[in-house]
Amino acid sequence: MGSTENKRYHAIVFDCPEQTLTGVRELRKAGFIVDDVHTPFPIHGMPEAMGLRDTRLAYGPLVGGIVGLAFAIWLQIWTHSVSWPINIGGKSMTAIPAIIPVSFELTVLLAGIATVVALFWACRLRPSTKIPTSQPHIRVNDDRFVVVVIEQDGSFLMSEFRALTTELGSAELHESWRSTWSLLLVVVIFSLTMFSGCRASGDEPGYVVTPGMVTSVPWDPYEPNELTSTGLTLLSPPEGTIPMGFTPHAYGVTPEETARAGRELRNKVSNTPKELARGKWVYNTYCSLCHGPRGEGDGSVIGAGRFPNPASLVAKRAKKLADGSIYHIITVGQGLMPSHAVQVAPTDRWRAIRYVRKLQTASVGGGKP
Ligand code: HEC
Repeated sequence: MGSTENKRYHAIVFDCPEQTLTGVRELRKAGFIVDDVHTPFPIHGMPEAMGLRDTRLAYGPLVGGIVGLAFAIWLQIWTHSVSWPINIGGKSMTAIPAIIPVSFELTVLLAGIATVVALFWACRLRPSTKIPTSQPHIRVNDDRFVVVVIEQDGSFLMSEFRALTTELGSAELHESWRSTWSLLLVVVIFSLTMFSGCRASGDEPGYVVTPGMVTSVPWDPYEPNELTSTGLTLLSPPEGTIPMGFTPHAYGVTPEETARAGRELRNKVSNTPKELARGKWVYNTYCSLCHGPRGEGDGSVIGAGRFPNPASLVAKRAKKLADGSIYHIITVGQGLMPSHAVQVAPTDRWRAIRYVRKLQTASVGGGKP
């Protein structure tokens, strides 16, 4: 009951705007429901005569715009300074001027989308909507004015309606206004769109709207390039570039530098059982083969004719080494001990040092010097 199926639509065609305006007023006064009015140009006073409320459509774009702006600002600040911070020429990570273009675009985009959504919502245009009054009067864009009246239930008095329309001076009256015309148009346009790419053979797409963006013309990495200072396309990063996640270690390979690292670097890893457990694992995996399970310099690769005896880590000398110095030795190596920078991540180095300290406290004999 009350669904679109049960509704019938009647189109009253008028010749002039004044007639149409009075017509709409009189029809509504007589209790008929005016669904819509189609005119070749806007008629002053028509919205009031039809009893239309002020449009609230503008709230759609307002909300869309605010959401777009907020999203754009969040997205850019998050990507620039949280997810993938890249320092470009020492500029601020949240440089406002750089944020403006994308914020503007997203604001306009979401406001635009919201307008369309709000319009469809306000017009109750959903996929299930049936469009009953689909074929406008042939002269409605020219010199005819069409008032569409809904016949919703049994209380609609056809005789009264006919009398009133004649009285109002209508030229024509179309009863049961209905057509499949627009559905046909939709089917035709849809088919045209679907088959528009079907001219090509094989794997190629048929019609490419933006060929310049689909197939760009990049430089071959090993191709000579007159635009770069080196004449090569593939450039090495500028001096001083630090890869993401890389901890620079600005100390040389001399005993003085080892001592300086000891003075300057601090162990930021806390001395908790969890960190110690990880440190033990790192030590047993990467250090104990040479330094031995207790740090006494008796690892499995050590022995006559094999790897020479490394310094004991539980000896007085090693006990006196600052955490920073041990970190430096792990990072760059010392004497026969190779650098472990590749195998052991910076934080794991500090954890291993915590474990070495524990071995030192636990050792009684002190091992071989
Ligand atoms: C390939 C064997 C080997 C491995 C693996 C190894 N070291 Fe060494 N380490 C040595 C040798 C050999 C020395 C003595 C270097 C020298 O000639 O001064 C040494 C020296 C040291 C020293 C300096 C001791 C001192 O008294 O000067 C520390 C600290 C140290 N190693 C810690 C570690 C830690 C921590 C690891 C694990 C991340 C490790 N080493 C892995 C062979 C090794």
